[in-house]
Amino acid sequence: MSPSLSPPDQQLIDRLRAAQGDPLSGQVIGELLSISRAAVWKRIEGLRRAGFQIESLSGQGYRLIDEPDTPTSEAVGACLIRDQRSNRLFSGEKLHFFESLDSTNEQATLLARQGAEEGSVVVADHQTRGRGRMGRVWDSPVGLNLYFSMILRPAVEPRYASQLTLLTGLALAETVGAVGVDDVQIKWPNDLLFGGKKVAGILTEMAIEENRVRFIIVGVGVNVNAELADLSPEIADIATTLRARLKIKVKRSVFLADFLGRFQTWYDRYLAEGFAPLRSVWLERSRIQGRRVQVNLLKDSFAGEAIDLDVDGFLVVKRDDTGRESRVLAGDVHLLEC
Ligand code: BTN
Repeated sequence: MSPSLSPPDQQLIDRLRAAQGDPLSGQVIGELLSISRAAVWKRIEGLRRAGFQIESLSGQGYRLIDEPDTPTSEAVGACLIRDQRSNRLFSGEKLHFFESLDSTNEQATLLARQGAEEGSVVVADHQTRGRGRMGRVWDSPVGLNLYFSMILRPAVEPRYASQLTLLTGLALAETVGAVGVDDVQIKWPNDLLFGGKKVAGILTEMAIEENRVRFIIVGVGVNVNAELADLSPEIADIATTLRARLKIKVKRSVFLADFLGRFQTWYDRYLAEGFAPLRSVWLERSRIQGRRVQVNLLKDSFAGEAIDLDVDGFLVVKRDDTGRESRVLAGDVHLLEC
């Protein structure tokens, strides 16, 4: 299935897919749908406007070249089936695709409250109220980027929930690396940057019950195929996209499935061995140790030197003002030099 196609359009696309790249004549399509050849042409034009690439070959008919890249449950699910790494936790059936939502984190929270299984993922092609950390807005234009939220139910104490943000950042950095950005950097706790600009962010939220995690929602936004001109003016100076770097489009469904595979590998390891293996790889990738940072907390802000990531996943910073070490539990950290 493709999103939002009328039954005749769906029938037409199914038939073109079945032809596996061979042309289908206007007459055959017309007979299939009981319409004239002129009406066939109109339908083909409509499908082209919806993002299908259909070639007209004179005297032979129409040939399907490419489909719109929408991360539907069918498209992502098809990649997951083939991927040994991810099909324990994730599947097309547990992936809920929406053309538009206020926020995938909101929808995932709703589903989790109703008992949705661990590994359920909510994906949207557009968000009307995408949320970032510290009350910020997450720019979510239609049809270009990835916006998704995973429902997790790990048996961990709430204070360890932020470790899942770090785990997600690591899996995301690997995925971005795999599409060809070799200098992607993880910035504590939840940003992915290259060239000093943000390409992805993570928003982790949780529900607690008797000092245990009831569920954790890990929301991820990745600027994939937006051009820099598609970004809103407020973030134009601080954000970037994979397209801006790679100069080509990245298939969102394939990217998402690859991320889920990498996430699953790290998550299994985390559940079996704890945070320690993840911590050392994270430290290596973030190269944060020894960097000058500016830390902005709700009621305090200070500059200092990042010393370490502690065993719980909190950032340890030696403050310039007091000379003492502070554990940063939540807040904004800015790197003061590149
Ligand atoms: C940040 O860097 O401030 C976090 C951004 C997180 C954005 C994602 S997009 C999918 C999910 N749904 C939301 O409303 N937010 C997260």
